[in-house]
Parts: sequence; C-alpha cells; structure tokens
Amino acid sequence: MIGIDNVRFSEAHTEDLQTLMTGIGACGCALLARALNDSKFDGTLSAENAAALAEFEPTAAEHIMVELLPLAARFARPPISGFHVGAVARGSSGRLYFGANIEFPGQTLGASVHAEQSAMSNAYMHGEDGITALAVTAAPCGHCRQFLWEMCFGGELQIVMRGRSRCSLKALLPDAFGPADLGLKRGAFPVSRVPLELRTENPGPLPQAALEAAQMSWAPYSKSYAGMAVRTSRGTIYRGVSIENAAYNPTLPPAQSALARLTASGDDPGQIVEAALVEIPEMPVSYRQATESILAGIAPAATLTALPAVLTS
Ligand code: THU
Ligand code: ZN
Repeated sequence: MIGIDNVRFSEAHTEDLQTLMTGIGACGCALLARALNDSKFDGTLSAENAAALAEFEPTAAEHIMVELLPLAARFARPPISGFHVGAVARGSSGRLYFGANIEFPGQTLGASVHAEQSAMSNAYMHGEDGITALAVTAAPCGHCRQFLWEMCFGGELQIVMRGRSRCSLKALLPDAFGPADLGLKRGAFPVSRVPLELRTENPGPLPQAALEAAQMSWAPYSKSYAGMAVRTSRGTIYRGVSIENAAYNPTLPPAQSALARLTASGDDPGQIVEAALVEIPEMPVSYRQATESILAGIAPAATLTALPAVLTS
C-alpha cells in the first residue's frame, strides 16, 4: 500500500491506486503509478499527464482533480488531528499540483499548513503564472479563503468539490479584505523576481538555492523577503518562500512552504540534514527562530545556516 508516514510513494502500485481512487480506471492508475514511481516526482502531474487522465475517463479535467484528492490526502502529515486533507491545484500551464495538510507537534497550532495552502505554495514554488482551479474535499476554511484571495487577485479562482457545482473564490469570500486594501494592484501570482543578493561570497549550492527562493518571495507588506532551502539525506533540495498576506496572519513562512514541497513530493521531513535560510536582517520580520524551532521538532539533527541578503535596487 502506498505510504502515509515515512514510506515513499515510489512503492505505489496500480492496484492500490485503483482502490484509493475508484473514479480513475486501470489505464489512468497505471499512468499515475508511473508518475509517482519516477524518482523525479515533484508533487505535480504534467499538463500532458493531466490531459491523458481526462481522456481515459469520459469526464472533465476538473473532475479528474476531484478524483485525485484521496491520493493528495496521502501526502498529509497530521500527527495532532489524524485528519488527512488533500487539495489539487491546476496551474494556468495545465500542470496539476498536489497539496496536503501538515501539523507540527510542539508548535502553536497556527504553524500548521492547510492542504489548500500546501497546493498553492507547491504551484508557486514551481513558478506557475496563476491558478485556474482548486479541488478540495470540503469547502476551504476562512483562513484558506483569505490565503487564496492573496494569491489569486480578484477571486476568479474556481473552487471545485465533488458533487457540487464549481464556485468562484469571490463567491466564497464576499467583501474580502486583501492586497487592494493596502494599495496593491496584484496578488502573489504570477511569481515576480525580487532583486536580492547574498552578502556572502561563494555561498555554496544550498544557500544559493535559498537565495533563489528568497528572490521569489511575496512580501510586499513588510518587505521581509525570505527564502529557504532544505537538503535531504538523498541529496534532494526543496525550496520555500514567505508568502505574506495583507491581513498578516495567514502568511505562510518559508519553512512551511519548503515542507509543503517536500511532503507533496512524497519525501519525509525527518530526512532533512541541512537547511539554509536567506533573509534581510534589517527588515521587521524574521523567520529565523521559528525555522530553528520547526526544524528541531521534525529533523533534530539538521543544521540551519542563516544568511543575510541585501536588496540590489
Ligand atoms: N485543514 C485543512 O487542511 N484545510 C481546511 O481548510 C480545514 C482544515 C486541516 C488543518 C488541520 O491540519 C486539520 O485539517 C484539522 O483542522
Ligand atoms: Zn483551511
């Protein structure tokens, strides 16, 4: 059976997937098994695979996203609630992004990552220009609606649920407070580049990856641009960024964003051996202590290097 905890998805079998997703037939599950077993699986399904899946079944692409939700939920890590939530986002490129909830024993409950945030952050870290639809098992909570509003300016994003007609984010969040209230004309998507460089020379590959992440961060409110990169014992590097929110609180910290990438790829946070955090020391927000604390809980032996960055223009 494909794993819930500590078992990589590289053990996925067509038959197990058919039991998990009854709405996807043998051909579709064989395709999914191939994608999951690929050592390069990165928590996404290519637009071609998504289209092929929809072709195998006499159904719309959005329906396939709903069918994939039980698979997405398998990536969840909810040691506190035991409540597994999955989400699947479709980028404007047609690529599908998995997301699942993550909880952290020993931390405030506020450190948790919701499945919707995880899928959106996964898409963001892949450099998507925008998200057209998000499939969820139940209507997103208020916190998620606020987070989605930040990412998808104007609320045209379609929320898709089983057995219900799709509805727009703006229908789910009327009278929203968002980026426009703080003078912005856009949300986090499409990803834009922050001109940042490290103050350290020859930093090495992991800090360089953290810098490249920080250059993608969405921090228009505090200007506390921050990025993170973690390396697992297998040598895989995952990046994460701060995704700020106009209302401040649903802000996703870089560690949570990196962990969303890592877990959606079927990897185990306990395998993190090294981490690098890049931020601008003079800015009002720092993720350093929170990152140390999160890492101490999930990968106690991992080392964290904090590197100062500077805006170049
Ligand atoms: N959860 C989500 O992932 N999305 C929601 O919108 C509702 C709640 C997660 C958070 C927590 O890990 C668990 O479900 C219980 O609330
Ligand atoms: Zn939520």
